[in-house]
Amino acid sequence: MAQAGKVTVVGAGFYGSTTAMRLAEYDIFAEVVLTDIVEGKAEGLALDMNQSRPVEGFETKVTGVTTGTDGSGYEAIAGSDIVVITAGLPRKPGMSRMDLIEVNAGIVRGVAENVARYAPDAVVIVVSNPLDEMTALTQLATGFPHHRVLGQAGMLDTARFSHFVAEKLGKPIASVETLTLGSHGDTMVPVPSRCTVDGAPLSELLTDAEVEELVVRTRNGGAEVVALLKTGSAYYAPSAAAARMAKAVAEDSGAVMPVCAWVDGEYGISGVYLGVEAEIGREGVRRIVTTDLTESEAAALAEAAEAVRAKQADVQNL
Ligand code: NAI
Ligand code: 2OP
Repeated sequence: MAQAGKVTVVGAGFYGSTTAMRLAEYDIFAEVVLTDIVEGKAEGLALDMNQSRPVEGFETKVTGVTTGTDGSGYEAIAGSDIVVITAGLPRKPGMSRMDLIEVNAGIVRGVAENVARYAPDAVVIVVSNPLDEMTALTQLATGFPHHRVLGQAGMLDTARFSHFVAEKLGKPIASVETLTLGSHGDTMVPVPSRCTVDGAPLSELLTDAEVEELVVRTRNGGAEVVALLKTGSAYYAPSAAAARMAKAVAEDSGAVMPVCAWVDGEYGISGVYLGVEAEIGREGVRRIVTTDLTESEAAALAEAAEAVRAKQADVQNL
């Protein structure tokens, strides 16, 4: 298999390093670049990942680079087709994602400006929290067209919903289909009307109260992991989600995925980054894909849009 193209992961913490490892193991890229501001961290992790190549049998090379807030080191990302931004603090138990907004806005703005300078043609996948706001900020700071800046949240939240449904019903994960839309926060919108198990609607398999319990657990999925870990947040499921998005871009696959994308009229909502389903290709978001929602799901999506719109306006000044 021929490897082609270059993907950069900014931030070599738990999320960034697991994402880089997954991307390398796909064995489709010529190079994965991993960067961090902590001297030697990205280089050390890259060396370790490269030494797994003979065991796992992949050819992709991983390059680790220390970057400075002055932009030093960013030459290494030149020519990247895709950049995944994971730089930023994770939350601690009891914190909401929104508690990270000021400190992470400073980090993400600086990273985005350097991405625009050194990888001006890249598709950017944002991961740093609070996700919807950091995605909007990245688009502003890069000046890239909206379709080339998207955020990872819906793939993760949907995966959590599917896991909880499969676990509750004792079914194989492959038999379950779920969907979440909205924000990666309190106004997340799990969509029970789009949930099926072996093609049967979830409403035929569980009571309303049982479905609601799974919806609430999905909405709190990140906090549940944070509370157990006590330091740091989830990264195995999150990195699986971001890596799959990058793969869809690299392969120009046209896969339809729940992502944070710029919404321009779909569902009667405009001018905001929001969790929706989108067709993903080499240019990033090819198009938003809408689905039928119940009245209450549509109302929850509209509410989510207004909540993140207000925060996305604030973020411009951070
Ligand atoms: P972490 O603390 O393990 O890693 C963050 C890394 O970013 C550190 O290595 C740090 O040195 C680096 N960093 C800080 N400033 C930087 C800069 N200017 N340039 C390059 N690197 C820089 O945190 P983790 O677990 O990797 O999480 C990263 C972010 O992802 C957090 O904001 C977290 O909340 C978010 N997250 C988002 C999810 C989503 O679904 N969108 C899911 C899980 C985490
Ligand atoms: C998560 O959902 C904290 O956003 C992170 O796991």
